[in-house]
Amino acid sequence: MKKKSFVSIADCSKEDILHLIQKAEFFEQHPNQKLLEGKVCATLFFEPSTRTRLSFETAVNRLGGRVIGFSDASTTSSSKGETLKDTIKMVSNYADVIIMRHHLEGAARYASEITDIPVINAGDGANQHPSQTMLDIYSIYKTQGTLNNLKITMVGDLKYGRTVHSLLTGMSHFNPTFCFVAPEELRLPDIYKQFLDEHGIRYSEHTDFSPEVINQSDILYMTRVQRERFTDLMEYEKVKNVYVLTNKMLDNSKENLRILHPLPRVNEIAQDVDDNPKAYYFEQARNGVFAREAIISSVLNPN
Ligand code: CP
Repeated sequence: MKKKSFVSIADCSKEDILHLIQKAEFFEQHPNQKLLEGKVCATLFFEPSTRTRLSFETAVNRLGGRVIGFSDASTTSSSKGETLKDTIKMVSNYADVIIMRHHLEGAARYASEITDIPVINAGDGANQHPSQTMLDIYSIYKTQGTLNNLKITMVGDLKYGRTVHSLLTGMSHFNPTFCFVAPEELRLPDIYKQFLDEHGIRYSEHTDFSPEVINQSDILYMTRVQRERFTDLMEYEKVKNVYVLTNKMLDNSKENLRILHPLPRVNEIAQDVDDNPKAYYFEQARNGVFAREAIISSVLNPN
């Protein structure tokens, strides 16, 4: 059987994405299955995580599999100098699938090329976070009833935000109009704008998080300015609280607007937004279990 990894959302066709959405819908209705009986799933987290690791592990447990792994690389032999290559080769002796997060861009792709078992990318540096994208797209589908022709506003760290990079790629199949709100220092990299241009996708860029931007949106995708991606902490201090969404700012927003955030949040969404019915970020995180059940079952049962 051909090995099937899940490394980048760019590897997924529109049909692949719709198929995973259908599977996520099924798992939301029927979360407990025995599809992974006898299978061992390794979660290798070289970077911190709450949601991604725990929802992947919940997904494996719900599918009847077992989990090995680590959440702190300093407790592993990588702290003694073992290479990523050797770690991946070792874990491949023990597990049926590797779910990994790493600070280096391309780490998951590299791992997938040196092992015979499937690799699922749980985030590689500022590059990709494709399983987050699947739960984001599932959340958009559930809240809007469609994926087509939506106005999606992305706010915050668009330079280093891997969830932004993956989501715009995944949604490019569905004729979106994007609005990008970021300070100059954290603007969307040119490579993603070129991608959108090549695919004929409309977008605009703003430094102001204005009422006009909010009030025309179907989805408001807030992101955290990520301290861990800055080499110069003075630069981080300059931009860390640049945009804060408050409840008042939603007064004239569209009825169908939903606020998404991959989480964790710091200050970019005020606590008073949490009780607004348009706030969807906690349900979004819950959807991660079903989207990840869909991804794991798809890589381990590709036919
Ligand atoms: N959204 C997300 O990746 O969260 P964690 O860093 O907690 O996994």
